Amino acid sequence: MRIKYIIVSVAVLFLFGNVSAQNKKEVALQAKISNIIKKMTLEEKIEMIHGNALFSSAGVPRLSIPELTCDDGPLGVREEIKRFDWASANWTTDSATFLPNGSAIAATWNPAMAHKYGVVIGEEANARKKNIMLAPAFNICRMPLCGRTYEYYSEDPYLNGQLAIQSVKGIQSQHVAACIKHFAANNQELNRDSVNTLVDERALREIYLPAFKAAVQQGNAYTVMSAYNKLNGYWCSENDFLLNKVLKNEWGFKGVVISDWGGVHHTVAAANNGLDIEMGSSGPYEQWYFAKPLLEAVKSGQVPVRTIDDKVSRILWLMYHTSMSTNHPKGSIATPAHAKAAYDIASESIVLLKNDAHLLPLKAVNIKSIAVIGDNATRTFASGGYGAGVKAKYEITALEGIRSRFGKTAEIKFAQGYKASYSASKTDAQNAGSDQPDQTLINEAVTLAKTTDIAILCVGSNREYESEGHDRKNLDLPFGERALVNAVSAVNPNTIIVIMAGAPYVLNEIDKSNHTIVWSWFNGSEAGNALADVLKGVVNPSGRLPFTFPVSLKDSPASGLNTYPGNNMTADYKEGILVGYRWYDTKNINPLYCFGYGLSYTNFTYTDLATNKKAYKKGDKITVSLKVKNTGAVAGKEVVQLYISKLNSSVLRPGKELKAFKKIMVAPGETAAVSMNIDVNDLAYFDIKLRKWIVEPGQYKILAASSSKDIRQMASFHISR
Ligand code: BGC
Repeated sequence: MRIKYIIVSVAVLFLFGNVSAQNKKEVALQAKISNIIKKMTLEEKIEMIHGNALFSSAGVPRLSIPELTCDDGPLGVREEIKRFDWASANWTTDSATFLPNGSAIAATWNPAMAHKYGVVIGEEANARKKNIMLAPAFNICRMPLCGRTYEYYSEDPYLNGQLAIQSVKGIQSQHVAACIKHFAANNQELNRDSVNTLVDERALREIYLPAFKAAVQQGNAYTVMSAYNKLNGYWCSENDFLLNKVLKNEWGFKGVVISDWGGVHHTVAAANNGLDIEMGSSGPYEQWYFAKPLLEAVKSGQVPVRTIDDKVSRILWLMYHTSMSTNHPKGSIATPAHAKAAYDIASESIVLLKNDAHLLPLKAVNIKSIAVIGDNATRTFASGGYGAGVKAKYEITALEGIRSRFGKTAEIKFAQGYKASYSASKTDAQNAGSDQPDQTLINEAVTLAKTTDIAILCVGSNREYESEGHDRKNLDLPFGERALVNAVSAVNPNTIIVIMAGAPYVLNEIDKSNHTIVWSWFNGSEAGNALADVLKGVVNPSGRLPFTFPVSLKDSPASGLNTYPGNNMTADYKEGILVGYRWYDTKNINPLYCFGYGLSYTNFTYTDLATNKKAYKKGDKITVSLKVKNTGAVAGKEVVQLYISKLNSSVLRPGKELKAFKKIMVAPGETAAVSMNIDVNDLAYFDIKLRKWIVEPGQYKILAASSSKDIRQMASFHISR
């Protein structure tokens, strides 16, 4: 007892000792910053809060304050571009690791993978002397057509939040600032810089803001990028509610709000409503809203000097944690360790959608010949998508990966199968016809597929077809791929469909007529190796879908309610909180593949679901435990998903909401004891009239699930008043 007491006391002392040391450090830093600000002229301050080139803002050389540098982006550190235009600077030392895209990271359902991603980004940013990385991007995947779905994470705020926290921590562990983007409700590319999104406060608080809040409060993100769009009538770059009230005051954000490039519209409103740095694409920089016009606005009293000082203070705070930090790491670029991280993430992201004939994993000894078919088999995915483009040191294509894993024992031949003729920079008229099959290429592919033991069809989209700046027109697989798939699978019974893309597509026909379907992504430098290892069974697939694949576009909420792309530049998010699976569940619409879905080469059974108590109150922690047995013959990773459902709620609640998840590795025949915690406070809904979070008393169900539709165990508990 006494020993326990001593241990607890020492722990308390240690903890509080540390906290106060931390506080003292912060107080000293703030004093140092105030002193620096006192020495600065107004002109010098103004120079610091707007871009002086495409990816930097000025320092104050006479006070030894360096320039603040940043770089894109979410899929790897972007190559060096010229200081004043977007053309490549043609460096030979900036080839980077290409990391799996956002939805691929989300498909790992593994926060440790998001952390790994962050560390690589941070280390490579340091090697390039970049202080801020414009990543991660994790807007909610509301509308499956959105051109940036592949950059973003998922349709679920909790999954997004858990991953965002770790991406941010990983980046910032290297003394590089993460820039979480795009704040907020930037869910479509069409009209993104003019659309006014109308989102009620409940949907904002429950769906669109939680991941940002988690990245700020738990990830301690140093910077936030304001979105291009308007939110509820105000540009996000001058939105007092978003930037001042919620982000800075409520959440206690200490860092810097940076505008999206060219996303500022007014001087006084942006300066007073929370924006700290204006960034953009072209000069003359002294004419920008936060340059001469802001200087004049301060002189005329429209913007207080203390508001400018606050911005500068935030920037200096950021610098003392990044470029001016002590023990600043040197960084490294495109190292073997980074390649290994890219491989690890990619191999956990691949989703096995269908394996009805048990064709996978392929038994290499029995295979003498493989036809690898499809433009995506030889295509690389690193470049494209503006800020999300990467000049990759190398990228293993699917064909290269398959050759390296199967080439010693099987003859491997390639046929292109289709032409991917869509270009993001062309007009719709110029792109017309790019959805048509190419019969000559199909005939070649069929001739080849007839002669081989196995056909691996690599289809999907590419970085032109899914891109920043435009949305897709529909959810069909592009380039006439369906005709190719039908033709090849008709002649080779051992056809495997591999789809490489970053967003949902309508796959009903493909699903109906094929027994083996694998979903890969824009999966980074090691994509081909990871894919081939999944096909071979070296890696047991453990990716789970981060968003719903609807049967048809009209089943999705924004299409069903006709709120996309909006009327008169207004997109009214009428579905409210019913985004993603929350919509499909609540409206009883069956998707083709649901949120959280993905198969394995083994099977898992769930038993013994229990909560540590039967009744809880506000502020309590619910400990949920269960057992998961691997009943198959190979080791595998299972993603155990915990959803909560409120019975007889007094307000509309979704059928279920994800509140915890864990990815676990289980050896064949073994049983793993799984335990997860859920805070009772996280069961709250946001009451729109009272404008506060309410934990409703009463009965709740807890669902332990292998996907959002595959509920394995159920238990219930009570929340008291
Ligand atoms: C994008 C941002 C990106 C910025 C700089 C903007 O168009 O929306 O995500 O970081 O450009 O390239």
